[in-house]
Amino acid sequence: MADRLPIMAGNWKMHKTAREGAAFVEQLTDELADPEGVEVVVAPAFTGLQAAVEAAGEGVVRVAAQDIFWEESGAYTGEVSPSMLADLCVKYVIIGHSERRQIFGETDEEVARKVRAAIGAGLVPIMCVGEIEAEREEGRTEQVLERQVLGGTQGMAPEEVAEMVVAYEPVWAIGTGRTATPQIAQEAVAFIRSRLAEVADPASAARTRILYGGSVKPDNVADIMTQPDIDGALVGGASLAVDSFKSLVRYERRT
Ligand code: 13P
Repeated sequence: MADRLPIMAGNWKMHKTAREGAAFVEQLTDELADPEGVEVVVAPAFTGLQAAVEAAGEGVVRVAAQDIFWEESGAYTGEVSPSMLADLCVKYVIIGHSERRQIFGETDEEVARKVRAAIGAGLVPIMCVGEIEAEREEGRTEQVLERQVLGGTQGMAPEEVAEMVVAYEPVWAIGTGRTATPQIAQEAVAFIRSRLAEVADPASAARTRILYGGSVKPDNVADIMTQPDIDGALVGGASLAVDSFKSLVRYERRT
């Protein structure tokens, strides 16, 4: 099995001012003495990116944006370009979160353009996929995941697939307290990896880090992390307080 460094990523969504985010990053950096064997990422809103990067300094915390636009510049009011994010020393960018797909109508084609643009600017995409409850109940989970994975990775080279991050976030588990069981999450993540192997090749897909997201909390993270294909978590609610996020980062100590 490939050696994949786990990631604990906090998606702050539309929470925290720049000042609050910077204070969080400073405190987290101080309190996480030396979190070996895990990469720690927080994703503030655009307005908080610069302050978070500055607060992170040379410490352990990496910063992600929550979205990106694919054009480099131009008449696109309200959008933020890949080079603007790269210029801030942001490392990751979340793309195609279910809230962007559902509330803002983002399509697989748009996700693919954003993923390509992020890679072009030297950013690491965290591409989100996941079925809604009705799709799972109708037995269409794999069909949906396949469409999202193949759609979002169009034209990618094997090495790019190996270096991207994918987050499996079943929509019915987001913000509901209904975490997927470790078995359900593992099954879906293994399926995603099998599709990535088709896009690239098995060796490259074995290097892609795939996270689980959806009501991950300090008391269920260890079970989720025991699954062989799951390489970390993308966390909303439980990433907003330093204490709970810190215990997620230290999940190994709970096993
Ligand atoms: P919750 O952890 O609040 O369920 O949110 C998950 C999520 O959407 C992370 O991107």
